[in-house]
Amino acid sequence: MTQEIHLRPVAEPDLAMFRRFAVEPGLIGLDWTGFRDAQEPARQFAANGYLSPDGGRLMVAVGDDTAGYVSWRRGAYMPESWYWEIGIALLPEWRGKGIGWRAQAMLCEYLFHHTPVQRIQACTHPENLAEQRALEKAGFQLEGVVRAAEFRAGQWRDGLLYSRLRSDPS
Ligand SMILES: CC(C)(COP(=O)(O)OP(=O)(O)OC[C@H]1O[C@@H](n2cnc3c(N)ncnc32)[C@H](O)[C@@H]1OP(=O)(O)O)[C@@H](O)C(=O)NCCC(=O)NCCS
Repeated sequence: MTQEIHLRPVAEPDLAMFRRFAVEPGLIGLDWTGFRDAQEPARQFAANGYLSPDGGRLMVAVGDDTAGYVSWRRGAYMPESWYWEIGIALLPEWRGKGIGWRAQAMLCEYLFHHTPVQRIQACTHPENLAEQRALEKAGFQLEGVVRAAEFRAGQWRDGLLYSRLRSDPS
């Protein structure tokens, strides 16, 4: 990947991509869980531009092009000990080019720089080899199997839980 990868805030033209992910079966990959309200992205954008204290989205840009987006949302095992859970979706034509692991590493740097969290976690599917490898390259470690983590494609399925701590090597 010779072009510069950077993260930028969501802009109004990006809503078309979010609408596609909501209504095109399988475009988002294994996270496809049926049709979603295609108007929701416009409402969310109008509410806070996809940047709130409890989470957000940033677009993954490659030069002047937009490859997809990264997201984060707040979680907590104890009320005062909260963490971020991150996610990512790239459009198919941008996958497998070294963008996914870099974008997730950049998101970690951004979140560790601007928020005091100690822990960033990510959950993925046992069959999602690309995301498992991308998380490892972004500095995440496998913690274990979350049994029956999600109902997807007709049945309950396990998830793989990864984390990266502030103190882990970047
Ligand atoms: C998962 C995803 C973010 C990975 O990003 P990516 O840009 O495609 O992956 P990268 O090019 O950064 O590759 C990272 C590593 O995974 C490997 N990899 C990439 N695609 C792979 C595939 N289909 N199968 C196995 N390994 C793969 C790469 O070879 C690389 O490892 P290496 O350097 O040891 O060779 C991206 O494919 C995507 O958006 N997929 C659809 C949405 C999704 O699954 N999101 C995550 C939900 S939990």
